Amino acid sequence: MNLRGELDLVRAMVERLEAKADDSDPVAWANARLDGFTLAPWQERVMRDEATRISLKCPRRSGKSTVTAALAAYESAVRGVPSVIAAPSFRQSRWLADKIEQMLRGELVQRSANRMTLTNGCEVHVLTSNRDSGRGAGGSVYLDECAWLDPATITALIPATASDSRFRLVMLSTPGLPRGAFYESQQDDSGFSVHNVTVEDVGHYTDLEQLKRDLGARYAVEMECEWMPAAAGVFAGADIDSMLGAFMPVEASEDETQSELLKGFGL
Ligand SMILES: Nc1ncnc2c1ncn2[C@@H]1O[C@H](COP(=O)(O)OP(=O)(O)OP(=O)(O)O)[C@@H](O)[C@H]1O
Ligand SMILES: [Mg+2]
Repeated sequence: MNLRGELDLVRAMVERLEAKADDSDPVAWANARLDGFTLAPWQERVMRDEATRISLKCPRRSGKSTVTAALAAYESAVRGVPSVIAAPSFRQSRWLADKIEQMLRGELVQRSANRMTLTNGCEVHVLTSNRDSGRGAGGSVYLDECAWLDPATITALIPATASDSRFRLVMLSTPGLPRGAFYESQQDDSGFSVHNVTVEDVGHYTDLEQLKRDLGARYAVEMECEWMPAAAGVFAGADIDSMLGAFMPVEASEDETQSELLKGFGL
């Protein structure tokens, strides 16, 4: 082999080693696949958290669905761990599925409404709360906007993590009322690795002062991540309903579409 041939061989070996090094680092893997930005330090901490139970309380628009998609895509594509992701509305679960698809390169064999099959045989299920129990699917469970998921859906999905020590439970949300599975996961003795993300941790907000004026009393919950006052407290029931509405703009037509799409999944 001449010198040029040897150089090409060495270059190919270095490239292979670099690709392998990237794969072993979930942050490098995700950053190489995100379009137009890289993960913020708080998102990097989530990607590198090896705990089997993780709970994240985050402001609105902070990037929690992005990091959920990145983690699920990485775990499934690189570590071969199947993922089950649930979000409260069809719009949110479709966004997650699209984001995961964007992050997979050549690893995706097939995508049907809310199930993806990867080249390594792993499956990623993206479900909508209140519509689908996810029964029959095993893997790491990611609950996006967990405080707003139907409690019965949470209870039905958690056993999916039981059959393999690599399977994890990750709950992410803006806060809701101070009760339920997400609230419990945030408590000191919950056994969860708890992350509390603040607006200061998020680098991409443009005008928080304007947002504060726009949101009024809701700013404390949606951006400062304070637990929502109980119905008997500061807010009247109607206000709490409208807060929930702000978080969960489920459109009837989308729900109908989801219902159609779920036919035949056998989940
Ligand atoms: N590290 C980042 N740097 C810059 N932009 C980001 C980053 N992470 C996410 N984003 C962008 O911020 C926006 C919100 O991200 P995402 O939907 O993941 O947040 P979210 O907390 O799930 O929002 P929501 O409260 O609406 O559910 C998206 O446009 C996303 O591309
Ligand atoms: Mg989101």
